[in-house]
Amino acid sequence: MRVIKDIHELIEIRKNLHGKVGFVPTMGALHKGHLSLIEQSKKQNDVTIVSIFVNPTQFLEGEDFEKYPRKDVADMDICKRMDVDILFMPNHKDIYFEDEVCIKAPKNKSYILEGYKRPTHFDGVLRVVLKLFHLIKPNVAYFGKKDAQQLYLIKKMVLDLFLDIKIVAVDTVREESGLALSSRNEYLSHEDRKKALLISESLKHCAKSIMKGIFRVDILKAEMFDILKPLDIEYVEFVDRDFNTIESVQKQNSIVLVAVKVGTTRLIDNLWI
Ligand code: PAJ
Repeated sequence: MRVIKDIHELIEIRKNLHGKVGFVPTMGALHKGHLSLIEQSKKQNDVTIVSIFVNPTQFLEGEDFEKYPRKDVADMDICKRMDVDILFMPNHKDIYFEDEVCIKAPKNKSYILEGYKRPTHFDGVLRVVLKLFHLIKPNVAYFGKKDAQQLYLIKKMVLDLFLDIKIVAVDTVREESGLALSSRNEYLSHEDRKKALLISESLKHCAKSIMKGIFRVDILKAEMFDILKPLDIEYVEFVDRDFNTIESVQKQNSIVLVAVKVGTTRLIDNLWI
């Protein structure tokens, strides 16, 4: 495995790579969710490139950019064991420039749900992912369904900007308890962790209700609110796969999304129906 920090070195090496290149962008503190993306890339491509970059522009003022877990040594070790070909770990000063040209996320779909409480978050995500796409020039890039709105917006960016990159959506990896893996789970105390299980419980309950034939969003939402009551609920929303809000669930075309605060930690999860 080659660890590359210098973007000019990456550009040179990329020129000489042959075959299909798979790319897994991450912010590090790698867990089994990330590993599942890497595994898929390894299976489907000749070369796999993973990036680790805690992207400052997607954090808002007062968010956890400073305290976001950084585990470079352990991450390098994991990538080596996964037989990643190139691990790209750029510096902020090489990625961003003063008064630079930058992309704006689409208004309608970026300032709802995750973007409502975190306006400009998706501007930062698309800004960095576009830069990484230009540097790495992948044939295929891997994103988790756990960040459903991010995945939708990245697919949209690829379409809107005519990028020749296939985006692969990877299922959410969970702990046995049901809790979706996230780098931010590290902030949870033992007690918080127990409380956080209500999130997957509410999603499981929703799936069961749909199986029973309940499709009305107002009813499903009320049931979920009831389960999530002990937590600080930010939103429970139902959308179609294009992130339009819906009043009735349509199988194979709906997503239910949850954002809550457990203690001071903000967690998101979802279920693709
Ligand atoms: P990060 O939170 O590190 O996540 C990197 C990728 O792993 C994302 O595509 C995310 O959806 C996926 N992922 C996270 N938890 C997962 C889980 N439990 N199961 C499956 N996949 C999971 O998302 C980002 O970083 C950043 O916004 C990034 C795209 C790198 C841009 O900075």
